[in-house]
Amino acid sequence: MAHSDICIAGAGIMGLSLALELHHRGLRVTVVEQGAPLLEASTAAAGMLAAGDHDNPPQLRPLADFSLTLYPSYLERLHALSRIPVSFHTSTTLQALPAHEADSTGVLSPGILSPDDLHRILPQLTPGEHRFQLIEEHSLDPRQLATSLIAAVRSTSIDLHTQTHVLSACSIGESVEVHTSAGILHAAQFVDCTGSWAAASSPLPHLNVAPRKGQMLAVSLPPSLVLRSVVRTSSVYIVPRAAGPDTTRTIIGATIEDAGFDKTVHAHDIAHLRDIAASLLPEIAYAPQLEAWAGLRPATPDGLPLLGPIPGQPNRFLATGHYRNGILLAPATAYVMAQLLTGERTSVDLTAY
Ligand code: GLY
Repeated sequence: MAHSDICIAGAGIMGLSLALELHHRGLRVTVVEQGAPLLEASTAAAGMLAAGDHDNPPQLRPLADFSLTLYPSYLERLHALSRIPVSFHTSTTLQALPAHEADSTGVLSPGILSPDDLHRILPQLTPGEHRFQLIEEHSLDPRQLATSLIAAVRSTSIDLHTQTHVLSACSIGESVEVHTSAGILHAAQFVDCTGSWAAASSPLPHLNVAPRKGQMLAVSLPPSLVLRSVVRTSSVYIVPRAAGPDTTRTIIGATIEDAGFDKTVHAHDIAHLRDIAASLLPEIAYAPQLEAWAGLRPATPDGLPLLGPIPGQPNRFLATGHYRNGILLAPATAYVMAQLLTGERTSVDLTAY
């Protein structure tokens, strides 16, 4: 295997987006992936760019907002390299206020839709106790993004090794010696982008990244219920693939479970999710199911990603723990990690991460 400037472990959305950013900056990049590219959380995701989700920790906001500013140029670069465009499917979200903010005084807080306005926007919605706001927020199809991203990477000189395990990575002087199941690789720097698998491969004894399972389903909505916005409460989200080849396809997610690396889909969990969604949009109860799946979010105790050098290992870096926001955070993660790796001052203060 060749010598490169940067070796990246993991060909998920983080690893490949970082590889492209580094390649763009003129660096020689090798990516080592234990399975196939983009097959785990990157394509299990629903694809909401939910910087304003009430469930996000507040410290995520600067990185999330920076990523939103990068998204148009990120997608343009993918398109230019791959010739595969990635479109936004929705640009607004009907987001329910968390219960503690939804006061019961009957006075509408700024930004909260009146029942009449809510009915005008989505007549089929049965809000129950929820109070909704309409926010500007985009969503895309992570599978379409993945198709474009892998084609973009393959159009470059990035050296991608699939079905190859990183066995160890040791800092030796100015470089890192990476032992893989396909041979030894030398690189000036090494970045672990293996998501939920990072704890297994890191030299840090207490690296707190663990898989958190999400089960979800796709249904086909009837033509009478055409969603133009995402609908999201703290217990469910409903995401239409409004610009895809099948505009009736609608994603409903997701459970949040600590189940190790198990990705079994349970019919009773899927039925429960559908019930919660149907309490908001009753027609969902009868919508034909197209698919059900599970993904593993790389979770950290504080819900924030881990971005930066590994203490005591000057040539080794981590970029993992993006939990529920990997699709949103990929462009910013690639950008700030590339800045770190090339010795630039980062555009976002990474102290919290
Ligand atoms: N990004 C949504 C989820 O993690 O379920």
